[in-house]
Amino acid sequence: MKTAVVYYSLDGSTREAAFVIAQKLDADVFELQEVKKRSGKPLSFMAAAFGALIGKKSRLKENPADKMSSYDRICIGSPIWASRTVPAVNTFLYALKAAEKEIILFTVQADPNTAPIEGVKRITRFLEERGAKVGNVLRIHGESPGKTASKGHLAEQIEKQI
Ligand SMILES: Cc1cc2nc3c(=O)[nH]c(=O)nc-3n(C[C@H](O)[C@H](O)[C@H](O)COP(=O)(O)O)c2cc1C
Repeated sequence: MKTAVVYYSLDGSTREAAFVIAQKLDADVFELQEVKKRSGKPLSFMAAAFGALIGKKSRLKENPADKMSSYDRICIGSPIWASRTVPAVNTFLYALKAAEKEIILFTVQADPNTAPIEGVKRITRFLEERGAKVGNVLRIHGESPGKTASKGHLAEQIEKQI
C-alpha cells in the first residue's frame, strides 16, 4: 500500500510527529508551506486562532493534493488551533480528491487531555462525504505555542496509537 504523510507545522512538533509516522508506515512526506510567513507576535497568534476557528484556508507555496492520485493511504497531520485544524490543512483538504482513499488523521495540540476535538469531527465528516474511509485518528500532545516537543515524547504516543 502506497502511503503519503501530509502535514503543516508552525513550531516543529507536527513535523517531528510526521517523520516518526512516515518511518513507521514507510511513507513519502509532504510539508504544507504557506506563502505568507507567520510571526509569533500576539496579534499574529490571535489572527491565526481566529482564522482556524472560522475554517479559513491559506495560500500554499505548493499544494500536494494533485500528487495524491498515486497514493492509497494518506496520513494528514495538523496542529490544533482554537480546537480546529489549521488553514493550510484546510486548503489541502478542499483540493484533495478523497474518494476511495484510506485516511489517517493526526493532530498535535498543547492540551495534554487531548479530548476529541470539534475540528477533527468536522474534517472527518468532510472527508467521508467525499467518499474517503477515515480510519485511525491519532491525538498527540505537543508543546505550548512557540516550543517544539521532543521526538521521544511524540514517538511514545504514536507507538501506542498506530
Ligand atoms: C494560534 C494557535 C492556537 C492554538 N490553539 C490551541 C488549542 O485550541 N488547543 C490546544 O490544545 N493547543 C492549541 N495551540 C497549541 C498548539 O496546538 C501546539 O503548540 C502544537 O504543539 C503546535 O504544533 P506545531 O509545533 O507543529 O506547530 C495553539 C497554537 C497556536 C499557534
